[in-house]
Amino acid sequence: MTRHLLRDDDLTAAEQREVLELALAFRKDRHLHQPFAGPRAVAVLFDKPSTRTRVSFSAGVAELGGYPLVLDAGSSQMGRGESVSDTAKVLGRQVSAIVWRTFGQERVEEMAEHAGVPVVNALTDSFHPCQILADLAAIADARGGVDALKGLTLAYVGDGANNMAHSYLLGCALAGMHVRIGAPADYMPDERIVLDAKKIAAEQGGSISVTTDHDDAVRGADVIATDTWVSMGDEEQSDARTGRFDQYQVNSRTMELAAEGAQVLHCLPAYRGKEITAEVLDGPQSIVWLEAEYRLHAQKALLTWLVSQ
Ligand code: CP
Ligand code: NVA
Repeated sequence: MTRHLLRDDDLTAAEQREVLELALAFRKDRHLHQPFAGPRAVAVLFDKPSTRTRVSFSAGVAELGGYPLVLDAGSSQMGRGESVSDTAKVLGRQVSAIVWRTFGQERVEEMAEHAGVPVVNALTDSFHPCQILADLAAIADARGGVDALKGLTLAYVGDGANNMAHSYLLGCALAGMHVRIGAPADYMPDERIVLDAKKIAAEQGGSISVTTDHDDAVRGADVIATDTWVSMGDEEQSDARTGRFDQYQVNSRTMELAAEGAQVLHCLPAYRGKEITAEVLDGPQSIVWLEAEYRLHAQKALLTWLVSQ
């Protein structure tokens, strides 16, 4: 059966673990596997801007022996109204996998339904599962291995309704972690995703909690994470969002409340002085550059795993 990664829980806990182990191995040996040798092509499609995702998939597919075919919305016929299902049927006959950054989650689902090759969500409005694989791999690497993840507490503060919050809920629950979200009452995660995460957490020995209190969220946490307060597609709400998240900023006070030696994650791009201070982002507890590097290793691991199923 063709496997996809459209949301974090498309992998089982055991499968996520395999991908994370492989990500750490790829960091040690960039050319460990070459599943696309030939070369075979991978389509990498963008309906939204990107730096890390674009570069890490381009470099990653090349390092896997393949040919990355990077297309922006405006330069494909989808930009002129060709349907997702017709595009999927065509691409599926020509490339070995499809990676897509777009808006609605239903679009990647439709692509997966018709493509016949693995489809990878490279960020939708709802989820960013490639980023969470990189985040988990970076934490694991910084703490001596994948075994270290189980039982850790990750606190995410800021916009609780965005793709990163949703993916932390599912992805970290799968890894057996305790996940806390601290966000304003009207920027809380989707309740259905919280319920899904709670089910996974119960199976994997972790837990999920959601609060409007920054301090309760971050107190004693091993990992502190945040993200922009205005995601791609939310720009028109920029004014309405101003001032709504100030008390959720990750700053030196956040780090005083967190566990000693807590690590800081940010998927980037970061807006210093908004969701995180420069002092914390550029400080000794931040592992954001390792996290960004792991986009490459984790996605190579994911693609290698997907095409071997
Ligand atoms: N973190 C992330 O996905 O970055 P880009 O938007 O630059 O791809
Ligand atoms: N939540 C952010 C993540 C950027 C990588 C966005 O969707 O813009």
